[in-house]
Formats: sequence, structure tokens, C-alpha cells
Amino acid sequence: KRTLIADLLKRPEAGGTHTVAGWVRSTRASGDVAFIVLNDGSNLSGIQLVLERATVPDFDNLSKTGTGTALQATGELVTSPAAGQQFELRVTALTVVGNADPDYPLQKKRHSFEYLRSIAHLRPRSNTFGAVFRLRSKLAQAIHQFFSERNFLYVHTPIITASDCEGAGELFRVTTLPPNGAPRNEGGSIDFGQDFFGQKTGLTVSGQLEGELFAQAFGNIYTFGPTFRAENSNTARHASEFWMIEPEMAFSDLADDADLAEEFVRYLCSFALRECAEDMAFFDQHIEKGLIQRVRAVAEANFARMDYGDAITHLQKAPVSFNFPVEWGLDLQTEHERYLTEQVVGGPVFVLNYPKDIKAFYMRQNNDGRTVAAMDLLVPKVGEIIGGSQREERLDLLEQRIDELEIPKEPLWWYLDSRRWGSTPHAGFGLGFERLIMYLSGMENIRDVIPFPRTPRHAEF
Ligand code: 4AD
Ligand code: MG
Repeated sequence: KRTLIADLLKRPEAGGTHTVAGWVRSTRASGDVAFIVLNDGSNLSGIQLVLERATVPDFDNLSKTGTGTALQATGELVTSPAAGQQFELRVTALTVVGNADPDYPLQKKRHSFEYLRSIAHLRPRSNTFGAVFRLRSKLAQAIHQFFSERNFLYVHTPIITASDCEGAGELFRVTTLPPNGAPRNEGGSIDFGQDFFGQKTGLTVSGQLEGELFAQAFGNIYTFGPTFRAENSNTARHASEFWMIEPEMAFSDLADDADLAEEFVRYLCSFALRECAEDMAFFDQHIEKGLIQRVRAVAEANFARMDYGDAITHLQKAPVSFNFPVEWGLDLQTEHERYLTEQVVGGPVFVLNYPKDIKAFYMRQNNDGRTVAAMDLLVPKVGEIIGGSQREERLDLLEQRIDELEIPKEPLWWYLDSRRWGSTPHAGFGLGFERLIMYLSGMENIRDVIPFPRTPRHAEF
């Protein structure tokens, strides 16, 4: 029966016989003693195995065990004389579970993230990606914990859908194959030419519209699932497949929405510092100096709130020149977002009340006739991590806006229905899960915080 290395290292004192299993990070032999660092993914450091010629049969072979080999080891937990580790395992029995050839690509040295992306099947065994994916897993659990503590209902919205929530035309089409199987193109590749059982459907860009329906029944709800965007942007912050958390609250306005977003992000910062301390310390040391201090400051901060109009004024007065134009009515680009949050505010900032013409049809119109009750949360380094709004709950204004934008109304009949019977003011937002992880780990490329990135150039495995 194996014990996880993380659990073993948490024991209050040495002693006892234990079995661990994992993959070799490094092997070092001197004379009659050999040291193997074994990692099973449960923590960053792994554990040092100590092999002595006198007690380990086949010592000569085992003391040369290659990096990447899968091993099972049984031994006594003893206090380690070495610095930086409390315990080590004095081995009495060692089994090679799976050999690794010497050409194992993850040898003990620093590899570039670009190289590691090309071996996405192996990179979870590296220090950095071990830490990233442990953080990702823990944060996913923290998100459910946050909403569960507040009695939000967790709803699964469809992946295959006919509605383009954001209206940007960025859907991937979904097709079915004919009854006799996939037709082949001349070159032998599959011809994905059909519609979804006769209907035009795509992969969802957001679960919001369906989430709103559930909010109109359960009050407070959230979704947490994969979303897809066919935008061909090769940036470090965009992926074709990413995960989004979308809470939606009935009987709520934009201020309530921003309050929830602020509480949520602060909660996740505190959680990461508390529950992922070893990995956060690693990021602080190797990925971004000062990270822990930065995240702690956010956990304790009151987030600034700024009107879009004021944001434009700040940008126009900026003593730097931007690549993209700044003008009331234009959308903010990453460079603008970063300037606002890094130079003007020096921390997270909500930008509120954007011009209606650059935002989606469902956002609630403000009384000025030209802005909507939208909010984006901008943070240093990453820019936008949250986009949200109060929704247009007034049927006549919603229909009018849909017509203005020439969006076909018929396919949205069910959405419009929700404004007919018991419509309420309601609001919600979407947090990009990968952008959150980038923000909390200091990792600078979205491809490095998702296990198998789907971007214009990565879809192979
Ligand atoms: O601002 P967005 O497009 O908002 C919505 O989809 C709304 N329906 C959300 C809502 O109100 N329920 O996307 C929300 C967030 C962004 O702030 C960003 O963090 C992330 O999703 N995001 C992406 N992350 C990675 N790759 C992409 N291509 C992304 N597009 C958006
Ligand atoms: Mg947005």
C-alpha cells in the first residue's frame, strides 16, 4: 500500500516503514551509497531515497537508475542530515516498475517553456508544470467551495449550442457524420461537411444565456466549464479552448456584481497562498520575484472602480504612446488595460459603463443612451481577467437592441421569454480560469497553464 510523498513529509516525526511510488528526478551515487530523488506529483520536492550497498540487493544496477524511471520503494522514514529536507527514506526494497530509456527528454536541467510545450505529454513531470497543475486543481476546488459556501447553484450549461452569446461570430461549427460513416476527401482525410442533425450548431462561447435562465429560477447560480472561441489570435492570453466560471445573480445590479467579483478574486488569492504554499514559494523564487507579496496585497486590497470615460481620459493624458488609438467609443487593448492597472491604479481595477456599441446585445442600457452597465476587471500583468454586466431585463429595450444589431430574434425566443414572465434585474460575470492561474502563478503564456493547449498552432495532442 503506497503513501503519497506529500503525506509522508507531513508526519510529525520520523519512524515507521512506508512504501512510495513515483518517477525518478535524479540519481547520484558515491561509493556504497546512492541517492535517488523520487517525485510522485503530490508535492514539489519529492523525497530522497537512500540506498546502501549492504541492504539493497542489486545495488550496482539500481544506483544507476535513469531519470524518468518509475519506481516503487519501501523503507524507513528517517530524519535527513541534508539541508532543505526534513525526512528521507532509507530503502529496504526497491522495484523498477517501468524503465526509462536514457533519451528521456526531461533530463535534470532547465528547459525552455517553448521546448516543454512541444512535450506536453511529459511536462507535468517537471517542477514548474507540477506546480502549475497542482495550483490549477486546487483552485478549481476552491471555486466550487466559494460558491457552495454562498449557496450558489452549480449548473451545467450545454457545450453544443446554436446561440452565439457574445455575438462575435467566433463559434466552431459542430457537424455530424452521415450514417455510413465519415466521407473521405481525396487525400484520405475526413470530410466534416455536415450540420448537427440538420441544425446549425457550434461549440459554446459562454454559458451565460442559459445561466441567466437558471438564475431566474434559483436566484444565485454559477457555471464552470469549457468554452470555445474560434478567434485566430496568436497571443499569450488567448486560447481556442479555455475554462470559464460564470456566476449569475437575480435581483442584483452592477454594483452587486462587482462586489461579488472582488470577494471572489480575493478569496482565491488567499486560498492559493494558504493551500498551495510550497508551489507559490516556487513561483515566487523561479517565475516572478515578489509574487507572494503581490498576491497577498490583492487578497487584502479594496479594488478600485473607474468609469470607462475616466479610463479614456487617463489614457489620453498618459505620458507614453500606445500602438492602438485611444478615443471614447473604442475598445481598450491589452496595452491600455495594463497601463490603467499598472500605472494609474497600481492594482486591480474595475472599468465600468462601456459604450454600448462595443459590448454584447444583452447588456443593460444606461440612462445616458450611449453606455451599458458593463464591467471588466483588469489586473497588472494580465489585463482583463473578468468580463461581466448587468443584463437588460426590460423586454422592449432588449428586443430593440437585438433589432439594431440585426441579430436574428427567432432563435433567441427562449431567452426573450425569460423577460416576459417574472423578469428581474440580474447581473453576472465570466472569469477566465487560465487568466486567473496566470495571475496567481506569474506564468506569462496561457499555453503554460492549461494541460493541453488548444491554440491555432497546438491541437495535436
Ligand atoms: O469578456 P468575455 O467574452 O465575457 C463573456 O463571455 C460573458 N458572457 C461573461 C459573463 O458575463 N457571464 O469573457 C470572459 C472572460 C474574459 O475576461 C477572459 O478572462 C476570458 O473569459 N477569456 C478568454 N480566456 C482565454 N482565451 C480566450 N480566447 C478568452 N476569451 C475570453
Ligand atoms: Mg471581455
